[in-house]
Amino acid sequence: MSLWGRMFAAMYDRSMAATEKAVLRGRREGLLRDVTGSVLELGGGTGANLAFYGPTVTKLVLTEPEEPMARRLEQKLEKHSLPATVLRVAAEDLPFEANSFDFVVSTLVLCTVDDPAKALAETHRVLKPGGKLVFLEHVRSDDPKLARWQDRFHGVWRRAAFGCRCNRPTEDNIEAAGFSVVNLEHDTLHKAPPIVRPLIVGAAVRP
Ligand SMILES: C[S@@+](CC[C@H](N)C(=O)[O-])C[C@H]1O[C@@H](n2cnc3c(N)ncnc32)[C@H](O)[C@@H]1O
Repeated sequence: MSLWGRMFAAMYDRSMAATEKAVLRGRREGLLRDVTGSVLELGGGTGANLAFYGPTVTKLVLTEPEEPMARRLEQKLEKHSLPATVLRVAAEDLPFEANSFDFVVSTLVLCTVDDPAKALAETHRVLKPGGKLVFLEHVRSDDPKLARWQDRFHGVWRRAAFGCRCNRPTEDNIEAAGFSVVNLEHDTLHKAPPIVRPLIVGAAVRP
């Protein structure tokens, strides 16, 4: 467990507070409102989504490979009465049978996984046919000028933000993995640095 990993987990909620208040909290609430049945969350972090899962969620598996984050997730989980468990596994290697979940939730995670194609292939595999991936992700900008800044700064940002890539074309990655995007909104991560402001929020169906 690296010192930087522990520090990043300890600082995460405080460093996100302004953005949570400005944008993310409302977006999380909207994204998770219709999530029901058996649900898998990728990279649950410190548990920012927990408050928004409703009573129609019958099973919630929260994955989180980083120990300092997973501990915080477990602590926060104690404050919620959810049918949930925490598993310390990476999105690229999910220990579930095919067709296991009604929903997979990914919020600010597809920017960080090492291999998004593998993580999305695993997501596709564990979702039931007709199941949905719901996502809230910051992405590569459609504006070529900002995209160039994202490319220039992505190495520095990646080191500072514990593996986060600021220039990932996540919508393209989701479609390339065989999903049909059925709902997509663009937004801005106000109060965040410009290179991570372009945000997509939506849902994609596993055919
Ligand atoms: C920016 S944080 C987002 C946390 C949380 N989902 C949220 O919305 O606040 C990214 C999270 O992804 C986790 N992560 C990193 N690599 C991962 C991987 N390969 N599979 C799943 N999660 C991963 C990190 O440990 C971290 O908790």
